[in-house]
Amino acid sequence: MSTSEVQPIPAARPVIGEEEIEAAVRVLRTGRVVQGPEVAAFEEGFAELVAGRHCVAVNSGTSALHLLLLALGIGPGDEVIVPSFSFAASANAVRLVGADVVFADIEPGNFGLDPAAVEAAITPRTAAIMPVHLYGNPASMDKLMPIADKHKLAVVEDACQAHAASLHGTPVGAFGSGGTFSFYPTKNMHSLEGGMISTGDAEVARTLRLLRNQGMEQRYANEIVGANMRLTDVAAAIGRVQLTKLPGWTEQRRANAAYLTENITAPGVVTPPVAEGAHHVYHQYTVRITGDRDAAMAALTEAGVGNAVYYPTPIHRLRPFWEPDQKAGRNWDLPETERAAAEVVSLPVHPSLSGSDLERIVSAVNELGENL
Ligand SMILES: Cc1ncc(COP(=O)(O)O)c(C=O)c1O
Repeated sequence: MSTSEVQPIPAARPVIGEEEIEAAVRVLRTGRVVQGPEVAAFEEGFAELVAGRHCVAVNSGTSALHLLLLALGIGPGDEVIVPSFSFAASANAVRLVGADVVFADIEPGNFGLDPAAVEAAITPRTAAIMPVHLYGNPASMDKLMPIADKHKLAVVEDACQAHAASLHGTPVGAFGSGGTFSFYPTKNMHSLEGGMISTGDAEVARTLRLLRNQGMEQRYANEIVGANMRLTDVAAAIGRVQLTKLPGWTEQRRANAAYLTENITAPGVVTPPVAEGAHHVYHQYTVRITGDRDAAMAALTEAGVGNAVYYPTPIHRLRPFWEPDQKAGRNWDLPETERAAAEVVSLPVHPSLSGSDLERIVSAVNELGENL
């Protein structure tokens, strides 16, 4: 069959179904649309994903990172250890609070912070570590938490891509001082835009609630300087619908990933390894192409298989980070980060894939093998 006769398989397919539309309309009809009962119910529902920790909803995953760093008291003079192989939001949040980003390399297996590299990067100014659970795969929290404890460092888990992922039974967002989640439309669940912060510390949770609302708990009784990073009740109502669907979607993503891993046999295509005890939720199904990646991506696109690189440029090579480092004569040694950025390609794994979509993805990838 030629590609002109079949629909291309998109890399992601956000769901805005009838239930989500009805929930949004229901809230709009109440006239109570900003951070009301729907937000409170969304927070309560989400807490079940993070072992009952306090949950505070905000308007994006970036806001979640930003406010969590503020609530933990991280700011000018502090250093935060961040992977360069992530979405820029991870490092942007550190810079937004006026702290310094220190990049550490990743482990080749799970694409998360390498514990040995983290330990080597600690200085007297280090205030926090920010593990990113990239692609829905938990970082090595079992090794990172003891390092943080030993050096008395805060741990900010960027779980923006990893709703309901876990390691040895502990959900991401329940290891560190706090965790952050994104509800951007392409994420495993969404609220159009939105974010959530989880924390085990009631004081931090209270500070977060103040920070997202101009420093107020009671109207016009401002306690601290804050921002407006509230979530709307319309977004929360959509998020609540999606929350009920997340377990089924996650199982579907995992089943799709298992099928791909079992059937992709092309030499030169390395399927994602999963560590023992890791519950990967496959926000992305990311392979490494050890041959000509550009040619492989072009061939996949030609075969109607959506594909994308997350992320082609490591954060330390992006201008807002690269330029000041160059001026200061700082050079990061991040060989696994550079290698990952050059090799990775994400394939469709979303829950809307049909059996024949999966077969098409496998045959397109296996055909690459002959040319890699
Ligand atoms: C790893 C990571 N961190 C942070 C964010 C920021 O989330 P948002 O887009 O909701 O601000 C994202 C989302 O794209 C992400 O993938």
